[in-house]
Amino acid sequence: MKKIISLLFTTALLISCSETSPEDLVDNTPVLGPVTYNADIFTIVDSQCLSCHNDNNASGNNSYSTYSQFRDATENGNVIDRITRSPGDPLLMPQGNQLPQNSIDLIIQWQMDGYLEN
Ligand code: HEC
Repeated sequence: MKKIISLLFTTALLISCSETSPEDLVDNTPVLGPVTYNADIFTIVDSQCLSCHNDNNASGNNSYSTYSQFRDATENGNVIDRITRSPGDPLLMPQGNQLPQNSIDLIIQWQMDGYLEN
């Protein structure tokens, strides 16, 4: 009887060890899809650039009020150059500030992904 009990116990232990716990099923890896203007870029432009670059106040003659305006400024203008300058450089954008590195990375990735809107 003791043998049977210890056999059952060992079997139960083995089964419980081989089971996948719910934690094992959670995948914390971020989903990496293409960067799009609507999902990733608009919030950066809206919070960091639009106050100075809108249709009524187009600093440097650049308004970023629409997707096509910001795309054109990035594709044919100097947005990437201006946001990647060193802190303290008078040409750095946003003026006197530097975007968080992940925002800079997103805009560069947006360029590499082909300036997708959606
Ligand atoms: C506090 C106001 C302010 C903010 C915020 C700001 N800018 Fe500017 N920006 C200016 C001014 C003023 C100029 C014109 C002077 C100059 O060229 O440095 C300018 C010029 C530029 C130019 C040069 C345009 C050209 O054709 O030469 C680019 C590109 C630019 N900004 C991008 C950005 C981006 C991208 C953001 C947001 C990440 C941003 N700016 C945020 C004020 C601002």
